Amino acid sequence: MKKRNIKVIWPNDNETFVSEGEDWFSSAEKAGLEIPTGCLTGSCGACEIDVNGETVRACISNIKSKKNSQLNISFTTDPFWED
Ligand code: FES
Repeated sequence: MKKRNIKVIWPNDNETFVSEGEDWFSSAEKAGLEIPTGCLTGSCGACEIDVNGETVRACISNIKSKKNSQLNISFTTDPFWED
């Protein structure tokens, strides 16, 4: 098993540690969040999240880290997250 050495800070201020290549949806779940989905094929944009300022479509990407192993996530679809 790969080392979970990437720190992810979620919009609800939870932090999780993940490893490179993990999928966004299960990682968000561990943080108690759900990334909205639509098409799951990369075309609708419902699952867009913001990773260190870069928009990523969660359904067609996995977690990648650069040197700096901390990822700050925000959601591009809004108040859904606040309840
Ligand atoms: S669910 Fe449609 S782009 Fe990801």
